[in-house]
Amino acid sequence: MKIRYKSAAEIGKLREANLVVAEVLDVLCAAVEPGMSTWELNQIAEAEIERHKVKSAFLGYYDYPGVVCTSVNEVVVHGIPRKDVILRDGDIVAIDFGVFKYGYCGDSARTIPVGRIDPEWQRLIDVTRDSLERAIAMCYPGNRLGDIGQAVQTYVEGNGYSVVRDFVGHGIGRAMHEDPPVPNYARRGTGKRLKSGLVIAIEPMVNAGAPDVKVLEDNWTAVTKDRSRSAHFEHSIAITDKGPWVLSRSSSEPGNPGVPVQ
Ligand code: MF3
Ligand code: CO
Repeated sequence: MKIRYKSAAEIGKLREANLVVAEVLDVLCAAVEPGMSTWELNQIAEAEIERHKVKSAFLGYYDYPGVVCTSVNEVVVHGIPRKDVILRDGDIVAIDFGVFKYGYCGDSARTIPVGRIDPEWQRLIDVTRDSLERAIAMCYPGNRLGDIGQAVQTYVEGNGYSVVRDFVGHGIGRAMHEDPPVPNYARRGTGKRLKSGLVIAIEPMVNAGAPDVKVLEDNWTAVTKDRSRSAHFEHSIAITDKGPWVLSRSSSEPGNPGVPVQ
């Protein structure tokens, strides 16, 4: 377990990679509509990768076959884009996307509605997104890794949902997955201290039912055991002396300290 702390110049490059990720996620989210296949989302993402002259972080990773993960309803994470998975009105879909630019990795995910959805599922989405924001608010030097997991877990369970334990967030840099692991469950005041220069991807996966997941025969698709719906959000965040810099947030979005891109 060796954490690689990043210089300001490296964080600048991670920001550039994550800005591409944020832009492409904007495009993918805007493209989502009832009747389309998740394969089409993968095709759009491929075209965007080409346009931005970046490299997919997912394609070929442990033989993963796509450039994006598309996880519909009870799929927790790692849904493989398929021609025969058609998005229907009332579904929710998590879109997870990552690239390398100048050798540095960007990684982010969002869950969005397909057409009009039941308010019950919108609440699941909102709680998951807000749990990530609460985790981000913990990202100050001197706090501990466990403060992040505790923030997610308390908020999610307080809202009657459960936190997935089988998958966790991660350090990120020249590799997509670096130390440390970043669980979405923990006790406050436990774990390593956060230091300036640490860059992590925080990615809460929240189930409407029980926390248990199961991986299907394709060895990727992770579904809830009870087939309840699940939502997933992910941001890549640099811990700076001034606090969290959400590298995968569009610069126009509130909550960003507004450190300029080099
Ligand atoms: N955002 C996911 C992660 O952090 C994406 C990995 S999917 C894979 O693990 F296809 F690349 F494996
Ligand atoms: Co990730």
